[in-house]
Amino acid sequence: MPCSATKLEEARAYERREGSAIPAQDRPAFHLTPWVGWMNDPNGFCYYQGAYHMFYQYYPYDTVWGPMHWGHAVSTDLLHWEHRPCAMAPDTDADAKGCFSGTATPTPDGRLLLLYTGVQDDGKGGTKQLQCLAEGDGNDFVKDAANPVIGESLLPEGASCVDFRDPKIWYEDGVYHCVVSTRDDREQGRILLYESPDARRWTYRTTLDVCRNEYGKMWECPDFFALDDRQLLLVSPQEMEGTPDGEFHAGFGTVALLGRYDKERAAFTRESVQPIDYGTDFYAPQTTLTPDGRRVMVAWMQNWATVNEAPRNHRWFNCMTMARELFIRDGRLCQRPVREIEAMWKNTVHRKETLDGSTSYAGVAGRRLDLTIRLDAAASPECRRFILRFAQNDRHFTSVEWSSAYNELVFDRSCCGSRRDIPHQRRIKAAPQNGVLTLRLVLDGDCAELFVNDGERTISALLDTPADAQGISLHSEGAAVLELTSHELA
Ligand code: FRU
Repeated sequence: MPCSATKLEEARAYERREGSAIPAQDRPAFHLTPWVGWMNDPNGFCYYQGAYHMFYQYYPYDTVWGPMHWGHAVSTDLLHWEHRPCAMAPDTDADAKGCFSGTATPTPDGRLLLLYTGVQDDGKGGTKQLQCLAEGDGNDFVKDAANPVIGESLLPEGASCVDFRDPKIWYEDGVYHCVVSTRDDREQGRILLYESPDARRWTYRTTLDVCRNEYGKMWECPDFFALDDRQLLLVSPQEMEGTPDGEFHAGFGTVALLGRYDKERAAFTRESVQPIDYGTDFYAPQTTLTPDGRRVMVAWMQNWATVNEAPRNHRWFNCMTMARELFIRDGRLCQRPVREIEAMWKNTVHRKETLDGSTSYAGVAGRRLDLTIRLDAAASPECRRFILRFAQNDRHFTSVEWSSAYNELVFDRSCCGSRRDIPHQRRIKAAPQNGVLTLRLVLDGDCAELFVNDGERTISALLDTPADAQGISLHSEGAAVLELTSHELA
């Protein structure tokens, strides 16, 4: 069936009118928010014709999830985003119940392909999820007349189109490839690999990995790429169980499976598994390559388990994390803020101190900053506890507390101002590296992202803190030798 343009035009007119009326100061400065209404997963994150494109799961008309559209924004520095007209609305038979998550890839002849999940009625009171294609110039997209391009007949035995979604497409060696998740007849998340000469005619190649009753059940939003000497499969599992070592928390998680890939045989061998982020608000990450070869990642800065508890203070709701560069160190996936952030550094303060007790420093305050503390643990044998508090006023603060006895770090937003009965704490391992513990905090309004030990572990969390809570303070029980570098971000 041909697309009816009406739904898309309606969404575009609505966002132009309502979205443009939202003052810029109501939004974070460098975390992408929807033009208006609701946002979830990043979609179609790519570099195309001189700019980064970010699409997203979008319902413009309300601040709750609704029939999924694709919102769209572009950026040249991965930090400052400009809204573009809505890219897709659920306006064909193949996606009448929603344009769910997917990805984008440029074609060799300069077009942009979007591969996404179309949700449709199954005629029995439920829905089916199948993969659809749209093609365009980076602004306007035409859905393929043959949608769905990956239909039920291409499902391997045991897989089901009840949960069959979130294709990640890439073009390599003259062939289009995509990975798609499904939940199989044993309730296991499975990642399927497909190949195509033209992104229209697909064949099922293999199952790359199965959750084997570990790391949750359905695995959403897969991504699959080489990084340094490893191959990575990123997934966002539902229904995770927590582990006693505190590495994995219960509920919605994000997991990196690291291993090797034999391209000829399309065989992925999993070697190790780690959470991608340890915070309360991080889900459905997606990556792309920058023109200079960096693998960068953005995730939805929220969590399905608690999103309904979140305050809706604005005409927009939800945001993305900042973009992060990925790299492998000592066999682990590590992350750091994209280096483009350095162009935003202002009013830098640098201090070297020995701290015993509590302090704050002139010029180190605010809600838009990039703060690094290097605690020389080897030179601080007396330091039992070290605490960083931020977004602080006389009633509110969020803290990061390190204990030397346990080499553990507790992120705690219990006193941030939230009135919601949701998890406010995360506890992670944090052993000094070569004697030094490094904490880097990037703060943008209510968005807090903590990078521990140069990105060995990260914690993403949303605060709910009045804007006047601008304080930063440090506390040490026992003398701590430390170095602090703080940049305001403007
Ligand atoms: C993940 C997800 C995807 C789905 C989309 C729907 O957050 O559940 O699996 O495509 O959101 O909005």
